[in-house]
Amino acid sequence: MHKVIFDTDPGVDDALALLYLHKHPQIDLLGVTTVFGNAAVESTTHNALYLKQVWGLTAPVARGAAGPLQPDAQPEAWPVHIHGHNGLGNHPVPDVLEATADTREAHQLIIDLVRAHPGEITLIAVGRMTNLALALQHAPDIAGLVRGVVLMGGAFHVNGNITPAAEANIWGDAEAADIVFTARWPVTAIGLDVTTRVEMDRHGLDALAHAGGADADLVRSLSQEYVDFYLQAGHKGMVVHDCCACIALTRPELFQFERASVRVACDGVARGMTIPKPEGMAFGPSVWDDQVVQTIAIGVDASAVLADIETTLAG
Ligand code: BDR
Ligand code: CA
Repeated sequence: MHKVIFDTDPGVDDALALLYLHKHPQIDLLGVTTVFGNAAVESTTHNALYLKQVWGLTAPVARGAAGPLQPDAQPEAWPVHIHGHNGLGNHPVPDVLEATADTREAHQLIIDLVRAHPGEITLIAVGRMTNLALALQHAPDIAGLVRGVVLMGGAFHVNGNITPAAEANIWGDAEAADIVFTARWPVTAIGLDVTTRVEMDRHGLDALAHAGGADADLVRSLSQEYVDFYLQAGHKGMVVHDCCACIALTRPELFQFERASVRVACDGVARGMTIPKPEGMAFGPSVWDDQVVQTIAIGVDASAVLADIETTLAG
């Protein structure tokens, strides 16, 4: 059984990932923490609470960061053309919900849960890395207490998706991402190198809804404009970025990995670029020296990942 905290900015593909975690028999979802990104944190938190309510999640939802560690570093425009004006693909979400947020801030919930379950928790982070960086800053001991971190973010040997250099989750808080990659905890990074190859078309979404009933049908409904965006961008269907990070935990054999120290460019035109230094490769003195060697995904069995999503949601 994997104990998991899911740090997220729902977010259309975040919603699918959350349902995957909720349905997976080997996942014990202990907490959901929200962050700005696909929409303002007020919206991503409201969306997480909405999904908690309709899907019957028992894990607490704690609201997290409203902006990056360095607020002036990067002005942010919400990606309404991808995730809709409400962050859930313009799917109607009630203004008033019965589910309420935990009284703690996200980073505090992370700290409390990790300290309560030493060595057991995997943090799956699929939004800006701000909450994880704040948790590390407030409680450096958690680096030695987590089982691991799996994150959706980065573009290691491919272009980014928000600039030619940068992937959105990293670009949106580059300083936080650099803190997360260089902390003394094991990180597995699932970036655009692999996620952009995992495309679910409308036929696949229909099959998902058929197999997974009402819960999965909600995913199908809220994903429609997201599918349109990715089809117009030249993909075969919607890219299921965030669920790939979850499956890297449950089915790591579906990915190929390489080992590298990773630094994040925090200035200039390459801001948000994730730059790996492959393990064992020699360079002159650099800021990669003596950094933790992390694990980054470079290959994926896309059809097996899609099949695993359908099987898991079918329950
Ligand atoms: C990442 O950015 C968001 O749009 C998605 O939810 C995903 O986490 C992909 O770059
Ligand atoms: Ca996300």
